[in-house]
Amino acid sequence: MRGKGKGSWGLSSKLEFPTVFLLCSVFFLAGIFGTMILSRDIRDQSRTRRLQEAFDEFSEDFTTMPHGETGDSSIDTIPFQVLSWKPRALYFPKFATKEQCQHVIKIAQSSLVPSSLAFREGETKENTKGIRTSSGTFVSASEDKSGILDLIEEKIAKVTMLPRTHGEAFNILRYEIGQRYHSHFDAFNPAEYGPQKSQRVASFLLYLSDVEGGGETMFPFENGLNVHSEYDYKKCVGLKVKPQLGDGLLFYSVYPNGTIDQISDILSLQL
Ligand SMILES: *[C@@H]1O[C@H](CO)[C@@H](O)[C@H](O)[C@H]1NC(C)=O
Repeated sequence: MRGKGKGSWGLSSKLEFPTVFLLCSVFFLAGIFGTMILSRDIRDQSRTRRLQEAFDEFSEDFTTMPHGETGDSSIDTIPFQVLSWKPRALYFPKFATKEQCQHVIKIAQSSLVPSSLAFREGETKENTKGIRTSSGTFVSASEDKSGILDLIEEKIAKVTMLPRTHGEAFNILRYEIGQRYHSHFDAFNPAEYGPQKSQRVASFLLYLSDVEGGGETMFPFENGLNVHSEYDYKKCVGLKVKPQLGDGLLFYSVYPNGTIDQISDILSLQL
C-alpha cells in the first residue's frame, strides 16, 4: 500500500479490542502496464486430502540437488492452499509463529500512524475520508535487529519466487473496532494513476492477530462474481479469508500476461 497522500484519520493511542494486525508485503516488477476485470469454487475436500496424503508419503524421500550460488542447500515444505485462480490467491496456514507475530506487533506499535492513500485524479484527503481507517507503519527487514522480519521476508520471497530486492518495506497495519479499508486495487492502473515506473505484481498479507468477528480480507469479484451488480460491501459476498494469527495470504494483482487483474480487488471488512 504505497502512500502518496496523507490520511486524515484520528489515531487513538490506546489499544482497544478487537484489533487485528496485519503485515503487508508487496512486490514490484518493472515495466508492466495494463487493463482490468473478475466468484468461488471450493474443491472436493476428500480428493485433496488423498492427494496430500500421497504427497506426504514421498516427502521423506527427498534428496537435494546441487544448487547454484543463489540457491538453497535444503528442501523446503511450506504448506499452502490455492484459494482461487481468479484472482491467483494462495493461503499459507501457520506461515509465522505466534512469537514472531507478537514481535512484529511490538516493533510496529510505537510508530503507528493513520494509513495514507494514493489519490486518483479528483480525489482529495477530504473526499476519500473514511475509505481507509486503519493505522499503520512501514518497517524494513533491516530495521529489525532481531532478524525476525528478515526470516519472514526470506520465506515470502521463497513462496512468491520474487527476490527480496523486489519487495517494498513491510506495511504493518492495525484495524480497530469499526475500522476498515473499503476496497482497492493493489496494482496501480496507469489509466487512473498515470504512467507507472514499476508495477505491484503481488501482495502478501500476514495476519498478526486473531479476531473474533469480521476483519476478513475479501475478494468480492472472484471468478467473475458480482462484477455486473452494484456491489454492496455490507453483504459480504465473495471469497473471504478470516484472519488467524500466523496465517499468510498471497495474491497477485496482475494476470500472468502482466495486465492488471481487476478481480483481485480486495476488501478488508469492518471489525
Ligand atoms: C491478459 O489476460 C487477461 C486474462 O486472461 C485478458 O483478459 C487480457 O485481455 C490479456 N491482455 C492482453 C494484453 O493480452
